[in-house]
Amino acid sequence: MVRIGPHTLYCADAYRLRPQLGFFDAEVMDPPYVIRTAGGGSFRKHRPYLDQIQQEGLDRGFDHKIINPLLCGSVVVFCHNDQLPGVSAYLNGLFHRFALCVWRKLTPMPVANKHYVPELELYFHAWNRGYHPEGSLADLKRVVECRSRALKDYAHPAVKPDEVMNKILRNVSGRTVIDPFMGTGSTGVAAIRAGKIFTGIEHNPKHFQTAIARISAAWEQANR
Ligand SMILES: C[S@@+](CC[C@H](N)C(=O)[O-])C[C@H]1O[C@@H](n2cnc3c(N)ncnc32)[C@H](O)[C@@H]1O
Repeated sequence: MVRIGPHTLYCADAYRLRPQLGFFDAEVMDPPYVIRTAGGGSFRKHRPYLDQIQQEGLDRGFDHKIINPLLCGSVVVFCHNDQLPGVSAYLNGLFHRFALCVWRKLTPMPVANKHYVPELELYFHAWNRGYHPEGSLADLKRVVECRSRALKDYAHPAVKPDEVMNKILRNVSGRTVIDPFMGTGSTGVAAIRAGKIFTGIEHNPKHFQTAIARISAAWEQANR
């Protein structure tokens, strides 16, 4: 466990640790995807991040039960395309209300592979009474548009852009935020910028070290 000011990072298994940490106002997660890492045709060599996704087991989905409406005021959960039906069915009736929101990538991979161009990443925001979305009218738009991060950023295949995370952290209500699948700490950086108190869990020690560095830098900058 590492403390950075009021923020706490754990290098641990989220399924074991998360229930022990109790209630947070907001749970923001970008969990492992359900994604086909094989195939890809002639463009496969331009998608080396798929190899890393497979090697790190980020293509095997996640146990939906980690989302517990008794342990959070609201949840934001990113869904890869093939996860939508399962996550949607799990959330059905679990929270007071929900919205499906979209990150539209301005520079999507130029592939379709017998499907559609992967220009959209979807996420659900579901909330209990009293934890409805916040922000200006511009913040409360369901679509956020920006480029993806460069693949070399932070040696992680799925780092979310600042624009997307800053918007989400302006939308979630309350002061305390947890990300049980923290990766390189993108949620934590945006949480600090939004003036919230962050807790993160990541089981991969390499990504955990990156998260410490990013969140320490964000905390230092916030206190300058
Ligand atoms: C899609 S990535 C999140 C990336 C993050 N949004 C970012 O911008 O860096 C999911 C992360 O969850 C981590 N993870 C997967 N299973 C986990 C578990 N059981 N406990 C904790 N972390 C886990 C993976 O190592 C991976 O870094």
